[in-house]
Amino acid sequence: MKTGIYPGTFDPITLGHLDIVQRSLRLVDRLVIAVTLNSHKSNTFSAEERVEMIRESLAERNLDLEVEVFDGLLVEYARRIKAQVIFRGLRAVSDFEYEFQMALMNKKMAPEVEEVFLTPDQQYIYLSSSLVKEVASLGGKVSDLVTPAVERRLLQRLGS
Ligand code: PNS
Repeated sequence: MKTGIYPGTFDPITLGHLDIVQRSLRLVDRLVIAVTLNSHKSNTFSAEERVEMIRESLAERNLDLEVEVFDGLLVEYARRIKAQVIFRGLRAVSDFEYEFQMALMNKKMAPEVEEVFLTPDQQYIYLSSSLVKEVASLGGKVSDLVTPAVERRLLQRLGS
């Protein structure tokens, strides 16, 4: 059985992330969405809230997947849950350097774990959690960027 991880900060999960989830599911038997506890970014939502939004968004799409919080190194977590593959979304050239550095470091630490980059549908190429938060905080429409569950929380947290 092939197990994959889709790790990230997911602050919050967007339709672009969900597009990568659907693509990853075509390639593995089991997919774990792994929410990092340690992030160098200052997050708008707590890890618990981020997990809840992912679960609610998956439920809206009738997807029943494991969603977990992890602490420490991603590759150690991958080993613990016996994942062979790490999935990451690659949107534009600007993502590449950061992703490539992380992938090489991960490969050095855990050569047995493969990293697979997936590109989302074109309509999500420009989409990021931070842009969604900026648009929501300035009163813009985010209903075609996130699920209704996430939109609700964004408006509660950031809406004016
Ligand atoms: O959604 P993000 O913020 O781009 O996700 C980044 C993430 C969580 C994949 C990355 O920060 C990570 O793997 N963090 C766990 C700590 C770790 O393993 N760091 C070494 C990476 S080489």
